[in-house]
Amino acid sequence: MTDFISFPFYDLFHENGHVPEIRKKLPALLTGVSRSILEIGAGTGLITTSLADWTPAEVFALEPSAGMRAILLSRLTGRPELLDRVTVLPCDALSVNLAEPVEAMVMINVMYALEPDYRRRLWPVLAGQLEPGGLLVFTWRPGGAPAPRPLQEVESRQVGRHTYSVSVEILESNEEASRARYVYRITEGGTVISEEEIDGYAHRPTWETIEAELTGAGFVQQADAPDGLLAWRLG
Ligand SMILES: C[S@@+](CC[C@H](N)C(=O)[O-])C[C@H]1O[C@@H](n2cnc3c(N)ncnc32)[C@H](O)[C@@H]1O
Repeated sequence: MTDFISFPFYDLFHENGHVPEIRKKLPALLTGVSRSILEIGAGTGLITTSLADWTPAEVFALEPSAGMRAILLSRLTGRPELLDRVTVLPCDALSVNLAEPVEAMVMINVMYALEPDYRRRLWPVLAGQLEPGGLLVFTWRPGGAPAPRPLQEVESRQVGRHTYSVSVEILESNEEASRARYVYRITEGGTVISEEEIDGYAHRPTWETIEAELTGAGFVQQADAPDGLLAWRLG
């Protein structure tokens, strides 16, 4: 599994990144969901609290990284009214073992981190944890892996006197996988205060691959998902 995340940076860059778009598009897909949702790779909880705000469902927020979970639990602590409805599961997706199947599953910006063999084994496991007819929603875009490119800054934010910036280099890529180097830097007036480098593989399966894997695990695609999201129901 690959994870390019530097914990202190996550919310700074993602609250304004993919999260607003997901908050706009996801609620319609969850219309009618009222009993239970499993969120796979809940991260720091940016989507988790929204799931709990949009639906009356019990939420299971699965997150294997202790660093991400710490921020998720801190976020939940700031929302005490949610504490009796959100359970944080400290395991990875393949190890999920719920007491009862859930009504819906949501997996936002997680698939890139899953190696192909892990991903292939995951769908049947998820099918086993979902009610018949249950909903599986996840982010996916066509286009395969990005081409190699030199290190370039993708975003920066000011926090008091410090500038937090993220730069990305794509080192190599093939049809579905790329190896990238992320540089997380904190500077003050041109002086570097800290720098952290993380590299690893990201996976962008093609439509043919996703369709074959999901269909093989018993899922049927729903036609009504907005751009960037796929919705499937367990047949
Ligand atoms: C880019 S973050 C997305 C977090 C959150 N879904 C969001 O949209 O803000 C990817 C998350 O997937 C988690 N992750 C990586 N591999 C995983 C796995 N095998 N099972 C479950 N979660 C995983 C990481 O720990 C990380 O928190």
